[in-house]
Amino acid sequence: MASLLFLSLIAVFLFSTLSSAARHHQHAPPHFAKPPLPKPSVTSVPPEIHIACKATRFPQQCETSLTKSNHLPPNPTSLQIIQLAMVVSAENLKTAQSMVKSILDASVGSQNRTTAAKNCLEVLRNSEYRISQTNDALPRGKNKDARAWMSAALLFQYDCWSGLKYANDTRMVNETMSFLDSLIGISSNALSMMVSYDNFGKDAGSWRPPMTERNGFWESSGSSDGSGFRGGFPSKLTADVTVCKDGGGGCYKTVQEAVNVAPDNAGTRRFGDGMGKTVITGSLNADTPGISTYNSATVGVLGDGFMANGLTFQNTAGPDAHQAVAFRSESDLSVIENCEFIGNQDTLYVHSLRQFYKSCRILGNVDFIFGNSASIFQDCKILVRPRQLRPEKGENNAITAHGRTDPAQSTGFVFQNCLINGTEEYMSLYHSKPKVHKNFLGRPWKEYSRTVFVHCFMEALVTPQGWLPWSGDFALKTLYYGELENSGPGSELSQRVPWSSQIPAEHVYSYSVQNFIQGDEWIPSSQLLAHQRKIT
Ligand SMILES: *[C@@H]1O[C@H](CO)[C@@H](O)[C@H](O)[C@H]1NC(C)=O
Ligand SMILES: *[C@@H]1O[C@H](CO)[C@@H](O)[C@H](O)[C@H]1NC(C)=O
Ligand SMILES: *[C@@H]1O[C@H](CO)[C@@H](O)[C@H](O)[C@H]1NC(C)=O
Ligand SMILES: *[C@@H]1O[C@H](CO)[C@@H](O)[C@H](O)[C@H]1NC(C)=O
Repeated sequence: MASLLFLSLIAVFLFSTLSSAARHHQHAPPHFAKPPLPKPSVTSVPPEIHIACKATRFPQQCETSLTKSNHLPPNPTSLQIIQLAMVVSAENLKTAQSMVKSILDASVGSQNRTTAAKNCLEVLRNSEYRISQTNDALPRGKNKDARAWMSAALLFQYDCWSGLKYANDTRMVNETMSFLDSLIGISSNALSMMVSYDNFGKDAGSWRPPMTERNGFWESSGSSDGSGFRGGFPSKLTADVTVCKDGGGGCYKTVQEAVNVAPDNAGTRRFGDGMGKTVITGSLNADTPGISTYNSATVGVLGDGFMANGLTFQNTAGPDAHQAVAFRSESDLSVIENCEFIGNQDTLYVHSLRQFYKSCRILGNVDFIFGNSASIFQDCKILVRPRQLRPEKGENNAITAHGRTDPAQSTGFVFQNCLINGTEEYMSLYHSKPKVHKNFLGRPWKEYSRTVFVHCFMEALVTPQGWLPWSGDFALKTLYYGELENSGPGSELSQRVPWSSQIPAEHVYSYSVQNFIQGDEWIPSSQLLAHQRKIT
């Protein structure tokens, strides 16, 4: 029986009040302008620290912050130096939290500052949690997990910084932003060392500052191409909780009620009667006072291990409403299969961590798949829909806007075997005047934006240039946009912008489910019963 849900509430999950990033289209990147630090006298820096800090983007800040900490054991190993960097990051995070708390205490009567400070405290708590997970993973040799979690810890700190930008009207906010800027540098340094440790081993002499594909660097990815990987939403599941529109018969009337009785938020699995049959809908958008892009989401997911199958998530704010998210996820190890996402601008906010989307339909127009997660989209249909109130006038759409801020973050979007097309309505507009309707594969929301398309079919609506700048030459030297073995009229490479790339065939395995998101360790194989991997 088809059940149709109409929710007018913001978000169905418990921890959904968080609001950060605000209106992401207006962000400038932080400059990492560090407050002046005392120059360390050369002799006072232990040689092990001096060598390890060469793996970072901000070596002087690294040396200073690690040298003045008194937690360093004698003759430290390279792992102990990374652990020390994590301690320093966690200590500074605590200071940042108390600074933001002071802003909150001093902001009675200022709505904007109160909202920004509250959101900031929330994202800093998330950062704290991911830092503690990273600390647990490191000594157990779980380097990929450590890198994923520290990448997210860094993102949450950045989210706090960028939220405060809209409330920077006191000296205390300005000082806190400078402090956060320095915290972001410290956390970036810890993450960079972790990346070198994972890639080059424990001899810090072989470490190097983080590099990307734009420097011609791909991580070693083993010999398997992973093409045999067949996993997704577990095939045999029974329902614990059922939701249907009429309630009654043991059914909950709203998704929120069902979530409220669920024992805990982690490992939630959700399945509906199918795309278009079970529909969760909302209509918030970031033009509403007090609503940011982040909390415009119809559904927002925080707990790890979220899984969904057979659902439609929708935001009906409309084509002229700007940022209006249908689904936002910061759930690590999440599997979404046979789901549909319908919106216009910013439909799918793949915020952070590792996510796997299989056989989904994603509809929108401006930056409609965006965020700073490591996400793989396999066998998905990506469909552009008509945008503004007078769509016949034409427009520029970008399918993706990946937001990686640091080259050490292990994030990016990977599209495998997807179809890039328009809805029927859009395609008839397109064919009536192909020159005015331009669609790009992506544009760089942040400096180290990374997106690749492999074995996809691109219809003619993809503009021959392929990729769109964000603003001037921002990020064009640092982003990585790669394509390999795509087909269809939109996949022709001869007119692509010179700052996009063709992925060397021998490196395509870097973007496999196994290598990019370690999916073989946590995505249920289609043949097996549901088995939830426990993170300890
Ligand atoms: C509060 O933020 C909104 C949206 O960013 C802005 O338009 C408004 O001017 C701000 N109000 C104050 C008092 O700063
Ligand atoms: C903001 O903070 C920076 C760094 O601490 C400082 O140099 C600058 O003078 C401050 N600006 C204002 C207006 O307080
Ligand atoms: C905050 O605002 C002050 C005054 O407008 C400005 O000088 C400062 O650069 C801003 N701080 C940051 C970190 O953006
Ligand atoms: C793309 O969409 C159009 C319009 O709906 C349709 O005719 C065409 O077959 C689609 N292309 C593919 C490859 O499915």
